[in-house]
Amino acid sequence: MTSRFPLTRTLRPVPEGDRSQILADPGFGRHFSDHMAIAVWSNDRGWHDHRIAPLEPFSLHPATAALHYAQEIFEGLKAYRHADGSVWLFRPEANARRFARSARRLALPVLPEEDFVESIAELVRADEAWVPAVGGEDSLYLRPFMFGSEAFIGVRPALEITYSVIASPAGPYFASGVTGVTLWVTSTYTRAAAGGTGEAKCGGNYASGLAAQLEAQEHGCDQVLYLDRTGGEGSLEESGTMNLCLVTADGRLITPPLGTILEGVTRDSILTLASTFGLTPVEEQTTLPDLRARAASGEITEVFAAGTAAVITPIVGLKGPGYAFVIGDGKPGKQTLAVREHLLDIQHGRSADEHGWMRRIV
Ligand code: COI
Repeated sequence: MTSRFPLTRTLRPVPEGDRSQILADPGFGRHFSDHMAIAVWSNDRGWHDHRIAPLEPFSLHPATAALHYAQEIFEGLKAYRHADGSVWLFRPEANARRFARSARRLALPVLPEEDFVESIAELVRADEAWVPAVGGEDSLYLRPFMFGSEAFIGVRPALEITYSVIASPAGPYFASGVTGVTLWVTSTYTRAAAGGTGEAKCGGNYASGLAAQLEAQEHGCDQVLYLDRTGGEGSLEESGTMNLCLVTADGRLITPPLGTILEGVTRDSILTLASTFGLTPVEEQTTLPDLRARAASGEITEVFAAGTAAVITPIVGLKGPGYAFVIGDGKPGKQTLAVREHLLDIQHGRSADEHGWMRRIV
């Protein structure tokens, strides 16, 4: 069967030696594979011009809509090499559905789920050599995105849209990795409000978070934690790039409810896996004073953050204006590490895929 995304192979791939050097220590988001997926939508033709092409810069008119009004959305998922050399995606349909929800919120056209998954599968097939070897935790990070590419500076949904996927070999998102990170609880900024774009994975949410991230770094923290309002007394929402989970001594795994936070694929997978670890999943609000009090009394024993890029990252401490406290003994928690290991084992093919989450690509 012919692919909806036919491949034009690059004549100038990254030389094998350079690629091996990159794959030996990919870092996060610094290097890119040889190809990209593309499709274009226009008001009169709908989706067309689907293809896998050599990776190259876009040529954008200065009036390109996305550059002015941020009509843009994206996704993040990974391809994993298994021990037999095969390559797999983790729940790409979940990303496709979220991409469609984000598109509706940003007045962008919906890309059919099968095209979303096929564009990624074909890109991974074209760039299979970029999927890191089995053994560690490395993977090929995939970044589908869509933006208003019409050159027009009136404020209305763009009539020409570009969809693309790029691929980047990825090691740990945080240099400190699994030793745990400290979050800065911002009392200056909020991330989202009811009716806003908090649930959409749009670039604007991340742009408005950069000042908060700088604030966190200025206070020696790795990332920011948002509350649902400024002033430091509100309910926990999410971290800059990750959802938040709390583990209690009586065996509950608590995460903030959906509404203004990102509906994370990793978050959802953890809620499903919780019972494997004897944990009861609970979606409920927790205020900052409540977290402080329950962490001090030993009622909340572990905190971690979850996301595709960061996988599961232990949170070992929190700081805010005039206060700081540790979670548990200030080291990554046992349950956190066990859930992390189990999820990675499923993704890397070392544990049975009991929930039917993995999709073989190569
Ligand atoms: C992801 O976890 O895939 C994200 O999109 C977070 C971040 C790298 C923006």
